[in-house]
Order: sequence, then C-alpha cells, then structure tokens
Amino acid sequence: MPTLNLTRFSFLIHIAVVACLLSPMLAAAAPTWNDDDVPVLPKDELPEKLDIKKIPVGFEKLPVAPKDNPTTLEKAQLGRRLFFDPVLSTNGTVSCASCHQPDHGFASPDTVSVGIGGQKGTRNAPTVLNRGYGKHFSWDGRDESLEAQSLGVLQSKSELGGDTDTVIANIKKDEQYVAAFAKVFSESGEGTGDKYVTVENVTKAIACFERTLNSGNSKVDRFRNDEYDALSRAARQGLWIFESRGGCWKCHNGSNLADEEFHNTGVGFGKKERDLGRAKATQMAEHNFQFKTPTLRDIDHTAPYMHDGSAKTLKDVVEFYNKGGAPDDPLLDKDMKPLNLTEEEVGFLVEFLKALSSSND
Ligand code: HEC
Ligand code: HEC
Repeated sequence: MPTLNLTRFSFLIHIAVVACLLSPMLAAAAPTWNDDDVPVLPKDELPEKLDIKKIPVGFEKLPVAPKDNPTTLEKAQLGRRLFFDPVLSTNGTVSCASCHQPDHGFASPDTVSVGIGGQKGTRNAPTVLNRGYGKHFSWDGRDESLEAQSLGVLQSKSELGGDTDTVIANIKKDEQYVAAFAKVFSESGEGTGDKYVTVENVTKAIACFERTLNSGNSKVDRFRNDEYDALSRAARQGLWIFESRGGCWKCHNGSNLADEEFHNTGVGFGKKERDLGRAKATQMAEHNFQFKTPTLRDIDHTAPYMHDGSAKTLKDVVEFYNKGGAPDDPLLDKDMKPLNLTEEEVGFLVEFLKALSSSND
C-alpha cells in the first residue's frame, strides 16, 4: 500500500532528521557554499550492461537484498544513473561518484571528503565496493542498510546539500527518469506519472546499484583456487604473515576480509579532537574510538587510508601495525600488538595487499 509506506517513510525521515540534529558531524554549518566551487564529476565508464547474477570469484553468494528492495537489472540501471548524476545535490554540482570515484576504487583521493561548495567533512570516503556484503555502514556503523546510508547522504547539508525537496523536483523535470521510476516502482510495471519519484525510491535504486558493485577474482583468489603462479613469492610470504604472525586475519577475515565488527586500532590517538567513532552511533563510552573493519579488496586503489585518511600509502599502514598501532592508547584493541617485522617483511605484506585487487580490469 503506497500511502502506508509513505507515512512510515516520513516517520523514518523524521527520526533521521532528529538524529542529524543530534550528531555534531552531520549537523554541519548552514549552506553557505560557493557555487563556483565545483568538485570532480567522474563519468560512468562501467561496462554497458550490469551483470546482476555474477558471483565474484572468492565469494560464495551474491549480496542479499532486503525483501522490500529485490535486485533487478532495471532498478540497478536506474540507481547507476543516479549514482553518477549531480542532480542528487541541491545545486547540481556533486554526485555520489564525486567522492566514490570509480577509477579510485570507488573511494576518494582526498584525506577527508569534500562536499557541496567545497565543505570539508571529518572522515575519508571509503570504498562502496562489496558493501552489499556489509552488515553495518559508515565508519561508525550508524546505518543499518545501504538504503538508510544513502538517505543520510541525501539529507546531509555538507555532502549533497540536504534539500531533498529540490532534488526530487529536479529529477521530476527529466522525462526519462520519470518513466524509469514508474516502470521500476509501480506494482504492474506499467505505472505512469511522476509520483514514483520519491526519496525512498531514490535510495532503493541507488542501494540496488551498489549491490552490483562487487570486487573479487583477485590474484589471491586465483592462488587459492590452485593457480599457484598468480602470486609473486613476496606476496605469498605476505599472505603467510597476514594469516599468522601479523594477526591481520583476526579482524580482516572472510571473503571480504572484514569481520564487520568495531575495533580501536589506535588511529587518531593523541589528536586533540579525536573522532569518537562507534560511540557516536551508540552513545556508549565503551565504544570510544572504535571503527568498522573495512574491506581490503581493491585496497591498492583507494589511498589514503583509515577513517581520517592519515595513512598515505600501504607501507604507512603496515608500519603503523608493525609498531602495534598506538601502544600507549589505554583503550587499544587487545589484538593490536607490536609485530617486530623486518623491513623486508613489511614489504611482503604490502605486496600481498596489492594482490587483493580484482583481476577483472
Ligand atoms: C562529499 C563526499 C561524499 C558524497 C557526495 C557521498 N559520499 Fe558516501 N561517504 C562519504 C564519507 C566521508 C563516508 C564515511 C562516512 C562516515 O563514516 O561518517 C561515506 C560512506 C559511504 C558508504 C558506507 C561505506 C561503508 O564502508 O560502510 C556508502 C555505501 C556510501 N558512502 C555511498 C554513497 C552514495 C550512494 C552517495 C550518493 C547518494 C554518496 N555516498 C555520496 C563521502 C561522500
Ligand atoms: C583489531 C582488529 C584489526 C587488526 C588486528 C588489523 N586490522 Fe586493519 N583495520 C582494522 C580497522 C578497525 C580499520 C579501520 C581503522 C580506522 O580507520 O580507524 C583497519 C584499517 C586497515 C586498512 C586501511 C583500510 C582503508 O580502507 O582505509 C588496511 C590496509 C589494514 N587495516 C590492513 C591490516 C593489516 C595488513 C593488518 C595486519 C598487520 C591489520 N589490518 C590488522 C582492524 C584491524
């Protein structure tokens, strides 16, 4: 029943707005942007036809979609167009792809993300690859689904501008969009008119597209599938350290190399205004400074690293772990210990990490 859904959705929006007001990070300054400040707008150079059925090598199944938003090709194509389209920002200058750049592993090269009018956020924009396999979203896990996550961005004043009425009105000006929304979201598939262009449906289409952005078939997967030569000797040594002495597997495990849990690795220790991380989402002090373990797939493409972009290279990351993160941090995760790796062994781990990129491209 469309009306019922709509009411429930407005209620959710209401909760989200209240949550935004409470969250100092999201409740950024009033929109005082300068329209001349134009961020990059990457073009859509993905393969013409999306493959929604292909299970990435290294995974056992496709991402599971919520019952009320099943994955279909047409919906994913609609979400794809929206993802690359600056129409999603209040002044038409920023798209999702501005911060999640396809040729940068769907992450941002900026230390912290830069949104509408050049407004700086406080965190690095992570990859959206393989997020369909995720359980919690954003560095602090505050969003419980990809749909909820994209709603948050659409409402964020500092990212896309936050004026969803304007965004919806602008999408409705485009006949192709209106027809595509009606086709995808009307029950019969034959609906007409612009009533299907809603914030809820925008978030559904985008989330559907995100579930198709998957990375597998890395050299490491090929090696594990008995293609022994896929990994260099150095990368094989790195794999061994990753799974033994390095202790990396304790948090970076499973097909996506992420436990989807929250840990304080010591990133940001000593900073004056240290990001509280998970505690921002849960309001519980025991979660202070904990962040979601990110995937390591395509990691070679997504520098800089960590929630604050503080590690510029993979070598910086491995050296950070080699010294045990921040050994003086009283709240450090119990699995963080100095590793005593030699310079050569640090290099092995870096080679291993580089071998986690998809071999498809
Ligand atoms: C101004 C830059 C910017 C724009 C524009 C932007 N994002 Fe993000 N995105 C970020 C940042 C920064 C984070 C991390 C947020 C946090 O942890 O607080 C993020 C997080 C995410 C995540 C969660 C990833 C994870 O590891 O859980 C997803 C999914 C995502 N964005 C999708 C989108 C979509 C879809 C759009 C467009 C509707 C979009 N983003 C627009 C900067 C941006
Ligand atoms: C205690 C859990 C834990 C262990 C052990 C661990 N990691 Fe991490 N890793 C994390 C978390 C959490 C983050 C995000 C930290 C942040 O940004 O504050 C992270 C971030 C990273 C990143 C950056 C990812 C990105 O997208 O920015 C890389 C690379 C990485 N880890 C590799 C490793 C390697 C290699 C090891 C072993 C030497 C290792 N990790 C051990 C939990 C862990």
